[in-house]
Amino acid sequence: MMHITLVIFFLLNLGAIQAEIVELRPGFYSETCPEAEDIVRGVIKRNMEREPRSAASVMRLQFHDCFVNGCDASLLLDDTPEMLGEKLCLSNINSLRSYEVVDEAKEAVEMACPGVVSCADIIIMAARDAVVLSGGPNWEVKLGRIDSLTASQEDADNIMPSPRADATTLIDLFSKFNLSVKDLVALSGSHSIGQGRCFSIVFRLYNQSGTGRPDPTIEPKFREKLDKLCPLGGDGNVTGDLDATPQVFDNQYFKDLVNGRGFLNSDETLFTNPETRGYVVQYRRNESAFFEAFVEGMIKMGDLQSGRPGEIRRNCRVVNSWEPAKLFASY
Ligand code: HEM
Repeated sequence: MMHITLVIFFLLNLGAIQAEIVELRPGFYSETCPEAEDIVRGVIKRNMEREPRSAASVMRLQFHDCFVNGCDASLLLDDTPEMLGEKLCLSNINSLRSYEVVDEAKEAVEMACPGVVSCADIIIMAARDAVVLSGGPNWEVKLGRIDSLTASQEDADNIMPSPRADATTLIDLFSKFNLSVKDLVALSGSHSIGQGRCFSIVFRLYNQSGTGRPDPTIEPKFREKLDKLCPLGGDGNVTGDLDATPQVFDNQYFKDLVNGRGFLNSDETLFTNPETRGYVVQYRRNESAFFEAFVEGMIKMGDLQSGRPGEIRRNCRVVNSWEPAKLFASY
């Protein structure tokens, strides 16, 4: 007991290091860094002007950060000699991108208010901004997260879903994060923007479930197009659009699913499975219902926390205590 009390006392008194579940709220930085949200939005906008796809890439970071031990920017930590981080896990390697956009936002925020705004909060703001600036809904984000002191490639590999996943597997995974079937379908609507690699779909084009045949649910004309884009034995890094309007956040994704034109297996399965189909059909007809459910899902996903100790990182790629000397000491 004495020991626990001491630990808590220590944690509470160590300034930068905090533990426990923190209470997130809108306007968390209204006193300490009122310009934070404007700065982040400006950086996202400038990057989208340079490269429109960066909106999708930045938005995806929220999902990959929050599912692995909470929204704590663990995703952004570079590997060190002592730690294999999440950047090279199976779902992220050669796939997650636009880390430099978050770096740029962090640098700009640090210039205005050093040591105040967490990288974890910047991801959450940036994801929201990417959606708004692509024509999607706007919402107020809850803030006040702290950044992790570590990251785990193993955890990321164990948690993040495969593009081959079927609806039942996805329902099960999302339920572990207190996310409903409705949340799953609405959040998958994030694939209204962005691109995926041939690597993620070749199995469904040529060998769905080991049959040696394509996925029969792909609409034939669309399959022809995908076959051309991703020939068997071709370059897995070639990319295709996740829906027919990949720069606009809208409900086109759901229209495509109903027409057998989903890009990933994990997308199309949401229409073919009766448990999720109702929401796909609803969101195809009613874009506002999709937007509303999407916002609800993003807020719920943004609430995920590990309760582990953390800090406000100065640089999103490294923990504050990281010393280059350690690098040499370990060899
Ligand atoms: C439901 C389970 C999900 C699966 C299995 C999944 C899987 C994938 C895969 C395989 C890609 C393409 C990666 C590549 O080929 O390099 C992708 C792209 C993307 N994902 Fe998901 N995803 C899921 C849910 C989500 C969620 C919840 C979000 C955000 C809220 C999200 C946002 C995105 C975005 C925006 C892209 C495009 C990124 C870009 O263009 O750089 N995904 N996803």
